[in-house]
Amino acid sequence: MLKEAGTIVHRGYTDQDNGLDISDDILCSWIRSDSKFHIRTLHLPTSTCPYEPQVLIRQLGRMVQHVSGAEVSFDYESTRLLLVFHESQVLLCRSKRSDLRHVLMVKTPRRRKFFHPSMMNSVLARVMCNLARIRPGVRVLDPFCGAGGILCEAASIGAVPIGIDLNWRLLRGAQANLADIGSTGLLIKGDAQHIPLTLGACDAVVTDPPYGKVSSTRGSKSRNLVWAMLSQTQDILSDHGTICICGNKPMGLPTLVERAGLHICRVVEVPVHKQLTRILVVATCA
Ligand SMILES: C[S@@+](CC[C@H](N)C(=O)[O-])C[C@H]1O[C@@H](n2cnc3c(N)ncnc32)[C@H](O)[C@@H]1O
Repeated sequence: MLKEAGTIVHRGYTDQDNGLDISDDILCSWIRSDSKFHIRTLHLPTSTCPYEPQVLIRQLGRMVQHVSGAEVSFDYESTRLLLVFHESQVLLCRSKRSDLRHVLMVKTPRRRKFFHPSMMNSVLARVMCNLARIRPGVRVLDPFCGAGGILCEAASIGAVPIGIDLNWRLLRGAQANLADIGSTGLLIKGDAQHIPLTLGACDAVVTDPPYGKVSSTRGSKSRNLVWAMLSQTQDILSDHGTICICGNKPMGLPTLVERAGLHICRVVEVPVHKQLTRILVVATCA
Protein backbone atom coordinates (compact mmCIF):
# COMPACT_ATOMS: atom_id res chain seq x y z
CA MET A 1 0.00 0.00 0.00
CA LEU A 2 3.09 2.24 0.03
CA LYS A 3 2.48 5.30 -2.13
CA GLU A 4 5.83 6.97 -2.11
CA ALA A 5 9.33 6.55 -0.72
CA GLY A 6 12.46 8.62 -1.16
CA THR A 7 16.23 8.72 -0.88
CA ILE A 8 17.39 11.47 1.47
CA VAL A 9 19.93 13.65 -0.33
CA HIS A 10 20.20 16.38 2.27
CA ARG A 11 19.25 16.84 5.90
CA GLY A 12 19.12 20.45 7.07
CA TYR A 13 17.16 22.96 9.10
CA THR A 14 14.62 25.64 8.25
CA ASP A 15 16.21 28.93 9.04
CA GLN A 16 13.96 31.62 10.53
CA ASP A 17 15.49 34.31 8.28
CA ASN A 18 16.39 32.48 5.06
CA GLY A 19 13.94 29.59 4.75
CA LEU A 20 15.72 26.57 3.30
CA ASP A 21 19.35 26.00 4.06
CA ILE A 22 20.47 23.83 1.11
CA SER A 23 23.73 24.42 -0.71
CA ASP A 24 23.95 24.76 -4.51
CA ASP A 25 26.52 21.93 -4.63
CA ILE A 26 23.99 19.44 -3.32
CA LEU A 27 21.42 20.41 -5.95
CA CYS A 28 24.01 20.51 -8.76
CA SER A 29 25.21 17.02 -8.00
CA TRP A 30 21.95 15.25 -8.80
CA ILE A 31 19.72 17.40 -10.99
CA ARG A 32 20.83 17.51 -14.62
CA SER A 33 20.30 20.61 -16.75
CA ASP A 34 18.32 18.63 -19.36
CA SER A 35 15.97 17.13 -16.76
CA LYS A 36 12.54 18.25 -15.59
CA PHE A 37 11.40 18.43 -12.00
CA HIS A 38 8.60 19.30 -9.62
CA ILE A 39 8.41 19.65 -5.85
CA ARG A 40 6.11 18.37 -3.17
CA THR A 41 6.21 19.10 0.56
CA LEU A 42 5.19 16.84 3.40
CA HIS A 43 4.76 18.44 6.83
CA LEU A 44 4.74 15.77 9.51
CA PRO A 45 2.64 16.60 12.60
CA THR A 46 5.96 16.96 14.48
CA SER A 47 7.09 19.82 12.22
CA THR A 48 7.88 23.20 13.76
CA CYS A 49 8.64 24.80 10.38
CA PRO A 50 7.27 28.38 10.43
CA TYR A 51 6.81 28.64 6.63
CA GLU A 52 3.87 27.95 4.36
CA PRO A 53 4.60 25.05 1.92
CA GLN A 54 4.13 27.29 -1.14
CA VAL A 55 6.85 29.70 0.08
CA LEU A 56 9.36 26.86 0.39
CA ILE A 57 8.33 25.23 -2.89
CA ARG A 58 8.91 28.54 -4.70
CA GLN A 59 12.25 29.06 -2.95
CA LEU A 60 13.55 25.57 -3.76
CA GLY A 61 12.18 25.78 -7.31
CA ARG A 62 14.14 29.00 -7.94
CA MET A 63 17.31 27.46 -6.42
CA VAL A 64 17.06 24.34 -8.62
CA GLN A 65 16.42 26.36 -11.77
CA HIS A 66 19.29 28.70 -10.94
CA VAL A 67 21.92 26.00 -10.36
CA SER A 68 20.83 23.44 -12.95
CA GLY A 69 18.66 25.18 -15.52
CA ALA A 70 16.18 22.28 -15.29
CA GLU A 71 12.56 23.01 -16.22
CA VAL A 72 9.49 22.59 -14.04
CA SER A 73 7.11 19.86 -15.22
CA PHE A 74 4.38 17.80 -13.58
CA ASP A 75 4.76 14.88 -16.00
CA TYR A 76 4.88 11.50 -14.32
CA GLU A 77 8.45 10.98 -15.61
CA SER A 78 9.85 14.25 -14.25
CA THR A 79 12.15 14.17 -11.19
CA ARG A 80 10.07 14.64 -8.10
CA LEU A 81 11.66 16.39 -5.12
CA LEU A 82 10.11 15.80 -1.76
CA LEU A 83 10.69 18.15 1.17
CA VAL A 84 9.81 16.45 4.42
CA PHE A 85 9.48 18.60 7.54
CA HIS A 86 10.04 16.94 10.88
CA GLU A 87 10.60 18.97 14.09
CA SER A 88 13.03 21.74 13.06
CA GLN A 89 14.59 19.57 10.34
CA VAL A 90 13.98 19.51 6.63
CA LEU A 91 14.82 16.42 4.59
CA LEU A 92 15.32 16.88 0.89
CA CYS A 93 14.49 13.59 -0.81
CA ARG A 94 14.54 12.26 -4.30
CA SER A 95 11.13 10.73 -4.49
CA LYS A 96 10.59 7.21 -5.78
CA ARG A 97 6.94 6.61 -6.50
CA SER A 98 5.77 3.10 -7.09
CA ASP A 99 5.58 2.56 -10.87
CA LEU A 100 3.27 -0.38 -10.28
CA ARG A 101 0.80 1.69 -8.25
CA HIS A 102 0.44 4.13 -11.14
CA VAL A 103 -0.37 1.21 -13.46
CA LEU A 104 -2.81 -0.31 -10.95
CA MET A 105 -4.66 2.98 -10.37
CA VAL A 106 -5.44 3.10 -14.10
CA LYS A 107 -7.05 -0.37 -13.84
CA THR A 108 -9.90 0.70 -11.54
CA PRO A 109 -12.87 -1.71 -11.55
CA ARG A 110 -14.95 0.83 -13.51
CA ARG A 111 -12.48 0.62 -16.40
CA ARG A 112 -12.75 -3.16 -16.63
CA LYS A 113 -14.70 -4.70 -19.48
CA PHE A 114 -17.41 -5.74 -17.01
CA PHE A 115 -18.03 -3.71 -13.85
CA HIS A 116 -19.83 -4.60 -10.63
CA PRO A 117 -19.64 -2.54 -7.40
CA SER A 118 -18.58 -5.62 -5.40
CA MET A 119 -15.35 -5.94 -7.41
CA MET A 120 -12.12 -5.63 -5.54
CA ASN A 121 -9.88 -2.74 -6.59
CA SER A 122 -6.59 -3.56 -8.28
CA VAL A 123 -4.33 -2.09 -5.59
CA LEU A 124 -5.78 -4.18 -2.77
CA ALA A 125 -6.05 -7.24 -5.04
CA ARG A 126 -2.33 -6.93 -5.87
CA VAL A 127 -1.45 -6.45 -2.19
CA MET A 128 -3.34 -9.66 -1.35
CA CYS A 129 -1.68 -11.59 -4.19
CA ASN A 130 1.73 -10.36 -3.01
CA LEU A 131 1.00 -11.33 0.59
CA ALA A 132 0.02 -14.82 -0.63
CA ARG A 133 3.33 -14.90 -2.58
CA ILE A 134 1.68 -15.46 -5.95
CA ARG A 135 4.22 -16.18 -8.68
CA PRO A 136 3.87 -17.08 -12.37
CA GLY A 137 2.39 -20.55 -12.81
CA VAL A 138 0.81 -20.73 -9.33
CA ARG A 139 -2.82 -21.97 -9.35
CA VAL A 140 -4.85 -19.34 -7.49
CA LEU A 141 -8.40 -19.98 -6.31
CA ASP A 142 -10.90 -17.26 -5.41
CA PRO A 143 -13.94 -19.21 -4.12
CA PHE A 144 -16.01 -15.97 -4.02
CA CYS A 145 -14.64 -14.63 -7.30
CA GLY A 146 -17.49 -12.29 -8.39
CA ALA A 147 -16.44 -10.36 -11.49
CA GLY A 148 -12.83 -11.32 -10.94
CA GLY A 149 -10.97 -8.34 -9.43
CA ILE A 150 -8.54 -10.66 -7.61
CA LEU A 151 -8.37 -13.21 -10.44
CA CYS A 152 -7.41 -10.50 -12.96
CA GLU A 153 -4.57 -9.34 -10.72
CA ALA A 154 -3.39 -12.92 -10.15
CA ALA A 155 -3.52 -13.51 -13.93
CA SER A 156 -1.53 -10.37 -14.65
CA ILE A 157 1.25 -11.76 -12.41
CA GLY A 158 1.19 -14.90 -14.58
CA ALA A 159 -0.74 -17.15 -12.19
CA VAL A 160 -3.45 -19.60 -13.29
CA PRO A 161 -6.82 -18.18 -12.10
CA ILE A 162 -9.56 -20.46 -10.75
CA GLY A 163 -12.83 -18.86 -9.69
CA ILE A 164 -16.06 -20.03 -8.07
CA ASP A 165 -19.21 -17.96 -7.60
CA LEU A 166 -22.92 -18.58 -7.12
CA ASN A 167 -23.82 -15.78 -9.49
CA TRP A 168 -23.73 -16.76 -13.14
CA ARG A 169 -23.87 -13.15 -14.40
CA LEU A 170 -20.80 -12.21 -12.35
CA LEU A 171 -18.94 -15.29 -13.58
CA ARG A 172 -19.60 -14.20 -17.16
CA GLY A 173 -18.24 -10.79 -16.16
CA ALA A 174 -15.10 -12.42 -14.72
CA GLN A 175 -14.68 -14.34 -17.98
CA ALA A 176 -14.92 -11.10 -19.98
CA ASN A 177 -12.49 -9.30 -17.67
CA LEU A 178 -9.95 -12.14 -17.87
CA ALA A 179 -10.30 -12.35 -21.66
CA ASP A 180 -9.71 -8.60 -21.86
CA ILE A 181 -6.23 -9.07 -20.33
CA GLY A 182 -5.50 -12.12 -22.47
CA SER A 183 -6.20 -14.75 -19.81
CA THR A 184 -8.75 -17.55 -19.53
CA GLY A 185 -8.66 -19.52 -16.29
CA LEU A 186 -11.17 -21.98 -14.88
CA LEU A 187 -14.50 -20.47 -13.79
CA ILE A 188 -17.06 -22.62 -11.98
CA LYS A 189 -20.63 -21.82 -11.02
CA GLY A 190 -20.78 -23.31 -7.55
CA ASP A 191 -21.00 -22.85 -3.83
CA ALA A 192 -17.89 -22.04 -1.82
CA GLN A 193 -19.37 -24.12 1.00
CA HIS A 194 -18.85 -27.21 -1.17
CA ILE A 195 -15.79 -26.49 -3.31
CA PRO A 196 -15.93 -28.77 -6.36
CA LEU A 197 -12.15 -29.28 -6.64
CA THR A 198 -9.92 -32.28 -6.03
CA LEU A 199 -7.29 -32.62 -3.30
CA GLY A 200 -4.34 -30.27 -3.81
CA ALA A 201 -5.99 -28.64 -6.85
CA CYS A 202 -4.62 -25.18 -6.10
CA ASP A 203 -1.53 -23.60 -4.59
CA ALA A 204 -3.08 -20.49 -3.09
CA VAL A 205 -6.45 -19.12 -2.08
CA VAL A 206 -6.87 -15.35 -2.37
CA THR A 207 -10.36 -14.15 -1.64
CA ASP A 208 -12.73 -11.59 -0.21
CA PRO A 209 -16.00 -13.16 0.82
CA PRO A 210 -19.29 -11.24 0.81
CA TYR A 211 -19.71 -9.07 3.91
CA GLY A 212 -20.88 -5.69 2.64
CA LYS A 213 -24.22 -4.55 1.24
CA VAL A 214 -23.24 -4.81 -2.43
CA SER A 215 -22.68 -8.57 -2.61
CA SER A 216 -25.38 -11.11 -1.92
CA THR A 217 -24.93 -14.16 0.31
CA ARG A 218 -28.30 -15.61 -0.82
CA GLY A 219 -29.49 -15.64 2.79
CA SER A 220 -26.44 -17.25 4.42
CA LYS A 221 -24.51 -15.55 7.21
CA SER A 222 -21.08 -14.34 5.97
CA ARG A 223 -19.28 -15.85 8.93
CA ASN A 224 -20.87 -19.26 8.27
CA LEU A 225 -19.92 -19.07 4.60
CA VAL A 226 -16.34 -18.21 5.45
CA TRP A 227 -16.11 -20.96 8.02
CA ALA A 228 -17.45 -23.56 5.56
CA MET A 229 -14.94 -22.41 2.94
CA LEU A 230 -11.99 -22.32 5.37
CA SER A 231 -12.69 -25.80 6.71
CA GLN A 232 -12.03 -27.22 3.19
CA THR A 233 -8.91 -25.14 2.54
CA GLN A 234 -6.34 -27.62 3.91
CA ASP A 235 -7.67 -30.29 1.50
CA ILE A 236 -7.77 -28.26 -1.70
CA LEU A 237 -4.41 -26.57 -1.15
CA SER A 238 -1.19 -28.26 -2.28
CA ASP A 239 1.72 -28.69 0.18
CA HIS A 240 2.97 -25.34 1.49
CA GLY A 241 -0.16 -23.69 0.08
CA THR A 242 -1.01 -20.16 1.23
CA ILE A 243 -4.19 -18.24 1.80
CA CYS A 244 -4.87 -14.52 1.96
CA ILE A 245 -8.42 -13.64 2.99
CA CYS A 246 -10.00 -10.28 3.56
CA GLY A 247 -12.93 -9.31 5.79
CA ASN A 248 -14.17 -6.76 8.28
CA LYS A 249 -13.43 -6.76 12.01
CA PRO A 250 -16.74 -8.25 13.26
CA MET A 251 -16.15 -11.39 11.16
CA GLY A 252 -13.32 -12.43 13.51
CA LEU A 253 -11.27 -13.85 10.63
CA PRO A 254 -8.11 -14.67 12.64
CA THR A 255 -10.12 -16.92 14.98
CA LEU A 256 -11.80 -18.73 12.06
CA VAL A 257 -8.51 -19.21 10.21
CA GLU A 258 -6.85 -20.69 13.30
CA ARG A 259 -9.84 -22.90 14.02
CA ALA A 260 -9.55 -24.27 10.47
CA GLY A 261 -6.08 -25.55 11.42
CA LEU A 262 -4.15 -22.99 9.35
CA HIS A 263 -1.02 -21.27 10.59
CA ILE A 264 -1.38 -17.47 10.65
CA CYS A 265 1.68 -15.65 9.28
CA ARG A 266 0.35 -12.10 9.24
CA VAL A 267 -2.69 -10.01 10.08
CA VAL A 268 -2.82 -6.63 8.31
CA GLU A 269 -5.33 -3.86 9.05
CA VAL A 270 -6.32 -1.61 6.15
CA PRO A 271 -8.41 1.41 7.26
CA VAL A 272 -10.96 2.23 4.54
CA HIS A 273 -13.24 4.79 6.23
CA LYS A 274 -14.62 5.55 9.72
CA GLN A 275 -16.94 2.55 9.76
CA LEU A 276 -14.76 0.04 7.90
CA THR A 277 -11.33 -1.37 8.63
CA ARG A 278 -10.45 -4.29 6.42
CA ILE A 279 -8.55 -7.17 7.97
CA LEU A 280 -6.26 -9.25 5.77
CA VAL A 281 -5.18 -12.59 7.19
CA VAL A 282 -2.31 -14.46 5.59
CA ALA A 283 -1.89 -18.12 6.56
CA THR A 284 -0.29 -21.35 5.40
CA CYS A 285 -1.23 -24.98 5.70
CA ALA A 286 0.01 -26.14 9.10
C1 LIG B 1 -17.12 -9.28 -2.35
S1 LIG B 1 -17.71 -10.18 -3.74
C2 LIG B 1 -16.24 -10.84 -4.41
C3 LIG B 1 -15.36 -9.91 -5.18
C4 LIG B 1 -14.26 -10.64 -5.89
N1 LIG B 1 -13.52 -11.53 -4.99
C5 LIG B 1 -13.29 -9.75 -6.64
O1 LIG B 1 -12.08 -10.00 -6.53
O2 LIG B 1 -13.71 -8.84 -7.35
C6 LIG B 1 -18.38 -11.62 -3.00
C7 LIG B 1 -18.92 -12.63 -4.02
O3 LIG B 1 -19.29 -13.81 -3.31
C8 LIG B 1 -20.33 -14.42 -4.04
N2 LIG B 1 -20.98 -15.43 -3.17
C9 LIG B 1 -21.87 -15.25 -2.18
N3 LIG B 1 -22.16 -16.43 -1.59
C10 LIG B 1 -21.44 -17.38 -2.23
C11 LIG B 1 -21.28 -18.79 -2.07
N4 LIG B 1 -21.94 -19.46 -1.14
N5 LIG B 1 -20.43 -19.43 -2.90
C12 LIG B 1 -19.73 -18.76 -3.86
N6 LIG B 1 -19.84 -17.43 -4.05
C13 LIG B 1 -20.68 -16.75 -3.25
C14 LIG B 1 -21.20 -13.27 -4.46
O4 LIG B 1 -21.99 -13.63 -5.59
C15 LIG B 1 -20.15 -12.18 -4.77
O5 LIG B 1 -19.84 -12.19 -6.14
